[in-house]
Amino acid sequence: MVYDSRLRAAGIEVHIDCSAKSTVKGLRGEMHQVLSNLISNSIDAMPQPEKISISIEDSNLEGMKGVTITVADTGKGIPSENLPRLFEPFFTTKPDSGTGMGLWVVKQFVDSWSGQISVKSSTDKDNHGTTFSLFVPVVALSKTRNKNIQARQALPIGQLLAANSFAAANSFIVLRSK
Ligand SMILES: Nc1ncnc2c1ncn2[C@@H]1O[C@H](COP(=O)(O)OP(=O)(O)OP(=O)(O)O)[C@@H](O)[C@H]1O
Ligand SMILES: [Mg+2]
Repeated sequence: MVYDSRLRAAGIEVHIDCSAKSTVKGLRGEMHQVLSNLISNSIDAMPQPEKISISIEDSNLEGMKGVTITVADTGKGIPSENLPRLFEPFFTTKPDSGTGMGLWVVKQFVDSWSGQISVKSSTDKDNHGTTFSLFVPVVALSKTRNKNIQARQALPIGQLLAANSFAAANSFIVLRSK
């Protein structure tokens, strides 16, 4: 996976808990980029070796069938005054290393899937961390332009992510399918 070496260097484990049985067609590359950007931000927010928890569950939003993916860290959290600006292009608190495009890109992909993204965060000194939740509608994903490519890539969501080499073989990544 893209951030494997960074995770190892930081001693951070990623736990993926997948109970979703839904089939999401395609967009493997986009999904990978979205999760990589979220994981990358979590790594940046956690100076100590801690855990990033990803869960993938079947869900419904306003009658739409889909999956909800959450990426949760125990990092320093996001001050509430920054929350409204997170998805703006070039918004960054990392002047030396960030472009501020990561979450903007995430939002563009999620919007293009007709999905939704939300964030909860706390900077409380005893209980800090950030959780991003993505709702990915199954129907919207299956409706995309290139049917042949979509059909080839149709996979249960858990496999889709595993196929993105959030690799089971990697000791820092634990993939649990229920
Ligand atoms: N998990 C997180 N914990 C704490 N802060 C976060 C988290 N995710 C995002 N942020 C905040 O949101 C800002 C914008 O994130 P974004 O990914 O768009 O840009 P970046 O990480 O600064 O730069 P880039 O992703 O382009 O390298 C970050 O600079 C950081 O302040
Ligand atoms: Mg980023």
